[in-house]
Order: sequence, then C-alpha cells, then structure tokens
Amino acid sequence: MGFFSIALDGPAGAGKSTVAKLLAKKLGYIYVDTGAMYRAMALHFIRNGIGENEFDAMEAACDTADVTITHKDGEQVVLLNGENVNGLIRTEEVSHMTSVSSVNKKVRLKMVELQRALAKQENVVMDGRDIGSYVLPDANVKVFLTASVEVRAKRRYDEQKAKGIDCSLSEIEENIRERDYRDSHREFAPLVQAEDAVFFDNSGMTIEENVDKLYEMCMEAQKR
Ligand code: DC
Repeated sequence: MGFFSIALDGPAGAGKSTVAKLLAKKLGYIYVDTGAMYRAMALHFIRNGIGENEFDAMEAACDTADVTITHKDGEQVVLLNGENVNGLIRTEEVSHMTSVSSVNKKVRLKMVELQRALAKQENVVMDGRDIGSYVLPDANVKVFLTASVEVRAKRRYDEQKAKGIDCSLSEIEENIRERDYRDSHREFAPLVQAEDAVFFDNSGMTIEENVDKLYEMCMEAQKR
C-alpha cells in the first residue's frame, strides 16, 4: 500500500494552514504547506530585483533557486538555497509577489515536482490551490475549504494585528478579492474545486470543529 494523502485546497484566508497543521498532527502525518514554497520562490525573485511583470527574468531565476522543505519539531521549515526563510515570507510584499509569480508555468512545475516527491515518501496533509485538481489527483481525501470574503479578511486582519502589524481591514479585503481572482483565473492549474472534492464552508465554525469534521472524514476514508 502506498502512502495516504489528504489534499486541502481553497482560497486565501480560509484557514487551510491552521486546519491542515492540526489535522496532520492528529493523524500523525507530515504537513506540507505548498503556499510557503511559492512564497520562498517569490522572495528569491524580490531579492534578485525582479519586477512583477518580468516573467522571463523569473523563469531564468528559477534555475538559481533551490527550494526544499524539512520539518523541525513538527513545524515545516522552508529552505531557500539552504537558508531558513520561514520568518521572511509572510509580508504583504511577498504575498503579492507570490500571487503574481505563481501564475507562471515554469515556477509551478518546479514546485509541483517537489510536492509530488514528498507525497511519495510520507503520509501527507498538503494544502494549496491545485493539490486535489492537479498535484495529487489520486489523493485519498480531497477537501475544498472556504469561507466568505468578509470572514477571511477579518481572520487575516486579526492575525496581522496579533503580530503587531498595522493594517487596514478594507485593504486586506481588497487584496483577498484580487488574489482570489488571480488564483482562480490563471491559465495553468488554477484554484478550482476538484470534481471529487468535498466542498466545506467553515465561515461559522471554530477551528476545532473544522479539524474534527475533517478528521472523521479521513478516518472514514482509511477504512475504504
Ligand atoms: O496559501 P498562501 O496564501 O500561502 O499562498 C500564497 C500564494 O501562492 C497565493 O497567491 C496562491 C499561491 N499558491 C498557488 O498558486 N498554488 C499553491 N498550491 C499554493 C499557493
């Protein structure tokens, strides 16, 4: 028998990473945050002075970026050319560059290769945008996790505030709408609910309720 994989897709701010992390812990699986991998690539582009429309430069810079992930104390650590960049990839600047650069096919294929390799080596809970629809079409459980734009914006706002980062709710909401649009309208492997994925709106749900529901689904799938 191969390894078990759970694909968790959905738009920005749906709580995917929080839920995926807890779910992975509960299942004893490895958590793979694919967004963080695209973020590390985007950081590489920013560091190389590449502008958001310079796709040729991005493609060239792909070859000088080695993105890998490891796990330390149950936490995913993203390495960009050997450097732990976990603390550098959550800024609005990197978020924006990630959304722009992850449209590029070469960038995506590089990341997808790594994601598939990880799922071949371990039981994984993998979160992203195209995991169930493209990266792991044979995932054992596929969930499309979402919440209303307002709820998602408020969550991001609270998260940033808690970190002491000054931000505006309306700006975050605007950014989320923009990112949703770009993620779901790109040509190659867009954000889309896989045909066989379970639609899950967690707007009125606590994190624990959400995790428990998904855990039950995984337990059911394991019996099959
Ligand atoms: O999940 P996140 O907010 O960390 O993702 C950051 C960006 O990366 C987001 O704009 C969508 C993109 N992304 C993607 O295109 N495919 C993935 N599998 C994961 C993230």
